[in-house]
Amino acid sequence: MDLKIYKDKQEVAEQFSSYFVDQLKDKDAFHVALSGGSTPKIVFDVLADNFADKVDWSNVHFYWGDERCVPPSDDESNYKMTVEHLFSKIEVPKENINRILGEKNPVNEAMRYANLLEIDLDRVEKTPQFDLVILGMGDDGHTASIFPHEIELWDSQDHCVVATHPDSGQKRVSINGKVINAAKEVAFLVTGASKAEKVKAVVEKTEGSDAYPASLVNPSSGNLVWFLDKEAAAKLNQNPS
Ligand code: 6PG
Repeated sequence: MDLKIYKDKQEVAEQFSSYFVDQLKDKDAFHVALSGGSTPKIVFDVLADNFADKVDWSNVHFYWGDERCVPPSDDESNYKMTVEHLFSKIEVPKENINRILGEKNPVNEAMRYANLLEIDLDRVEKTPQFDLVILGMGDDGHTASIFPHEIELWDSQDHCVVATHPDSGQKRVSINGKVINAAKEVAFLVTGASKAEKVKAVVEKTEGSDAYPASLVNPSSGNLVWFLDKEAAAKLNQNPS
């Protein structure tokens, strides 16, 4: 596990953008699963501002680790957020953007998206393998849209599952734990003081931390990196940087 701790969200965004672009080097086709929520917004802004014309985006194939079951025009849509903060500012072919159809029936869409991943991506032991899965983490220790009250979905046989937000009841479509842990590399993007308690629990594997889906992130490749700001890392026993 590689812990990278930076002073603030801006520095995390700059460092993550450089890391992401480094990952693309010499790759004819790079398949990445994006995270949603609010944390990626500044990262996508910096990626677009600093690298829009420095990357051949036709080599990058975008997917999502999870989506809210809302139309693409809805402010809750991870797709909409990504269009506003990234896609609207870079030259990426439309066919490289593989969004989860949040407006469709969740069960059918989970099956369709799993099928798409199984066709588009290489597979390891029948599990679709991303080059990179980007994950966020909620204050409750959820990741992608696998929440503590439905942690059994992590080991679902279905590569994409239907989940339910514990407070809003909002339906979500999410990749499962097998797909996350089959990735060549997994990167957590986590900032802000509200995440510090769960960052400590998950990184230091404190008692009871196995109740948090984020604690189950353990890619078989061994390639797991955390991008944290000082606030999110504040409760860690030792600060490596
Ligand atoms: C989503 C996400 C989810 C997110 C965390 C953190 O669709 O909500 O993919 O897993 O990464 O909830 O969200 P914030 O970045 O908004 O804190």
